[in-house]
Amino acid sequence: MSDITSTTSHGDLANLLNHPRHPRSNRYDVRWTIENQMGPHALWLLEWLSPALGLEELRPGARVLDRGCGCGRAMTSVFLAREHGFRVVAADLWAKPDENATRIAEAGVAQRVLPVSAEAHDLPFAQGHFDAIVSIDAYQYFGTNDLYLPTLTRLLKPGGRIGVVVPALREKPEGTEPPEHLKPYWEPDFWVFHSPA
Ligand SMILES: C[S@@+](CC[C@H](N)C(=O)[O-])C[C@H]1O[C@@H](n2cnc3c(N)ncnc32)[C@H](O)[C@@H]1O
Repeated sequence: MSDITSTTSHGDLANLLNHPRHPRSNRYDVRWTIENQMGPHALWLLEWLSPALGLEELRPGARVLDRGCGCGRAMTSVFLAREHGFRVVAADLWAKPDENATRIAEAGVAQRVLPVSAEAHDLPFAQGHFDAIVSIDAYQYFGTNDLYLPTLTRLLKPGGRIGVVVPALREKPEGTEPPEHLKPYWEPDFWVFHSPA
């Protein structure tokens, strides 16, 4: 990835990552977005999720858990604080709070985003604390246990909302073989991917 950022002009990179359906994401520095990515375009996925989750209806100052356990490098936490004025807890396992704190401060939202280290099955938050919980490209790592969801719902205020974006397969694979067209790329971890149904 660093090759493309070093060999492509800023303007060309911005054009490559300018998406007509994601006007808010388009306003973020393209190098910042690329250097902090941990998979698909996290800001596009969050901007796509926002209307379904009703984030526009939540008031500024609402408490949101960027459930990364999976916030990754906190890009989505910065987005939630900047775009909606939410107070965000940026929880993650692989990315260290110190590193995220620097990124969050550089993005000018240190007053509204709290980076914490948390393992998804041991969440140090009080019952009913959050107005919303968001998880982008992370839930597939820890939420596959049928009994996991109540671990999150207990953290929500009555009427609170959970929004999850995960990789998926178009159809459920037949038997124990991966779909033919994915065989060349298939990795054992991909068995956590499911069809929308
Ligand atoms: C592919 S990254 C996505 C990060 C970020 N949401 C993004 O889209 O850029 C998956 C994230 O899931 C987190 N994760 C995986 N397993 C976890 C667990 N058991 N507890 C907490 N976080 C976990 C990792 O720390 C990592 O940041």
